[in-house]
Amino acid sequence: MKILITGGAGFIGSNFIHYWTKKYPSDAIVNLDKLTYAGNLSNLRAVEKNPNYKFIQGDIADDKLVEKIFQEEQFNLVAHFAAESHVDRSILDPNAFIQTNIVGTHNLLRAALQNKTRFHHVSTDEVFGSLGKTDPAFNEKTPYDPRSPYSASKAAADHLVRAYFHTYGLPVTISNCSNNYGPYHFPEKLFPLFITNLLEGKKIPLYGDGLSVRDWLYVEDHCRAIDAIIKSGKIGETYCVGGNSEKSNREATDEILKLLGKGEEMIEYVADRPGHDHRYAIDATKIKNELNWEPTVSFETGLQKTVEWFQNNEAWWMHIKNGEYQDYYKKQYGK
Ligand code: NAD
Ligand code: TYD
Repeated sequence: MKILITGGAGFIGSNFIHYWTKKYPSDAIVNLDKLTYAGNLSNLRAVEKNPNYKFIQGDIADDKLVEKIFQEEQFNLVAHFAAESHVDRSILDPNAFIQTNIVGTHNLLRAALQNKTRFHHVSTDEVFGSLGKTDPAFNEKTPYDPRSPYSASKAAADHLVRAYFHTYGLPVTISNCSNNYGPYHFPEKLFPLFITNLLEGKKIPLYGDGLSVRDWLYVEDHCRAIDAIIKSGKIGETYCVGGNSEKSNREATDEILKLLGKGEEMIEYVADRPGHDHRYAIDATKIKNELNWEPTVSFETGLQKTVEWFQNNEAWWMHIKNGEYQDYYKKQYGK
């Protein structure tokens, strides 16, 4: 099988490439990534010499490039991870979110249709909006109610994916997953920012009252879920994927502080995010019943593994924090 993975130099995409090359070593992988600030080829050092792996630097919003790659490579499957993914950045400047998440996804769908390629779209639970304290968790029937430019752009992409199934019969599946954490997580998001700040002896900025709730899933479990959907998911269907592990940001922060032997004086309460979604939670009954998937890594174990990974990979996150990681491509590819 030949697979196009978009956004494979980012957090979840690079974890997925490691997962897939280990589990299915004879599959060929092409990683198409623009290498935005979030793309980091040093996430992929372990696979870059693998003869079944190829990297193409390119923008999914470039329709001609996408068309050409599909024609030349003749993929059997697209696993679409590429996105602008940070809510705070979408609030400051939504433009790139519209280009990549909506226009880019549409270019891929059109090329997949021309080449009759199976398409898996990686999406988020944020498309469902925000839950109150006692609301039931999101499931596949929850109406869409996105509230940030990020989630609105992902919702638009999900609708386009569904439209290509219903209108043109493109074989698609969608996964809407809760918050991930683990190795290679870019240190602008809550967990990696807080862990690396504490390792540097810096304070950690908790938004508002710290009581917003997220449902945390260890990234490898997300990769397993996507694998299950790709191999056995029903075409045209959506699967909600979650960690069954709701924590307030303050609870998660306390766990991180404890693992690193730091006290609550390291917390700095800062202004809340505008339009901050209060709570996300996923009911993952469908994927459990239909595809026999459930999370295997508990929050406690996953967080410990994650903290250890950041402790053992200081050079990786230091290079990001000081900007040097973007030189890796130039050194590696001479451009
Ligand atoms: P990320 O920001 O870490 O990585 C995104 C990758 O996409 C980067 O390598 C970047 O260079 C690439 N990219 C961005 N714009 C591109 C473009 N125009 N053309 C080609 N490549 C481009 O994101 P992530 O956290 O790994 O998320 C991956 C996917 O999973 C996204 O679609 C996101 O919406 C979804 N998701 C993320 C989470 C989470 O907790 N991180 C949860 C659920 C769903
Ligand atoms: P984030 O990791 O940005 O993921 P998302 O907004 O997509 O869920 O944020 C997770 C939660 O942590 C969210 O409620 C906002 C909060 N947060 C902080 O309190 N401080 C921070 O510096 C960041 C980045 C997030």
